Amino acid sequence: MDYGNLSLKKKIIQAMGHKHMSKPETQSAPPGIDIRPYNHTEDYKTVLKIWNSVGNGIHVSFSDEPAELEKLLRVSPGLFFLAIHRGNIIGTIMGGFDGRRGLIYHLAVLPEYQNRHIGSYLMNYLENELYKRGCRKIYLFIVPENIKTADFYQKLGYEQMSAIPFTKILQ
Ligand SMILES: CC(C)(COP(=O)(O)OP(=O)(O)OC[C@H]1O[C@@H](n2cnc3c(N)ncnc32)[C@H](O)[C@@H]1OP(=O)(O)O)[C@@H](O)C(=O)NCCC(=O)NCCS
Repeated sequence: MDYGNLSLKKKIIQAMGHKHMSKPETQSAPPGIDIRPYNHTEDYKTVLKIWNSVGNGIHVSFSDEPAELEKLLRVSPGLFFLAIHRGNIIGTIMGGFDGRRGLIYHLAVLPEYQNRHIGSYLMNYLENELYKRGCRKIYLFIVPENIKTADFYQKLGYEQMSAIPFTKILQ
């Protein structure tokens, strides 16, 4: 295969068949919706209520206990955002970046606010923040009970991976 004058980075990407994440376009906010960063002291209780109220798409686990979230906020500051309508929290998105991959967790929009492009706006907002930090590839997980959400992510340009995730809990 002849890669001609392509830069080394492009050559490697092409050789591996990888798609490169291009800079996300910036969407405008849905009417009346603001985004602000999560404040751990003030917002935790409300956010937890939202996660527990949106159905089986979000599994609240030990990782969502306050001390665990503090670790995420320390390692990946400034990547946890809230959607606000009339001063109330109506949506959440939490991101992480380890220097190699971005991860998206706990995207949630209160049921009465769904299908108003708030979820996709939160995704776009976080993608831009991840991109600014140098993130070029994002992972996110859908639990099998919530497979219907795959269509939502596909609309936003996400592709299903062929990897089988493994996990281990360190006690
Ligand atoms: C998934 C979720 C965040 C989507 O938020 P939302 O604000 O309703 O989504 P949007 O309005 O931005 O939808 C964007 C597009 O995806 C479509 N869409 C939204 N949810 C969809 C679904 N479940 N299946 C298929 N398409 C969907 C919308 O119709 C819209 O299409 P359009 O651009 O052609 O108009 C929201 O349904 C939710 O909070 N669900 C419960 C929690 C959850 O499952 N989170 C995901 C964890 S992996």
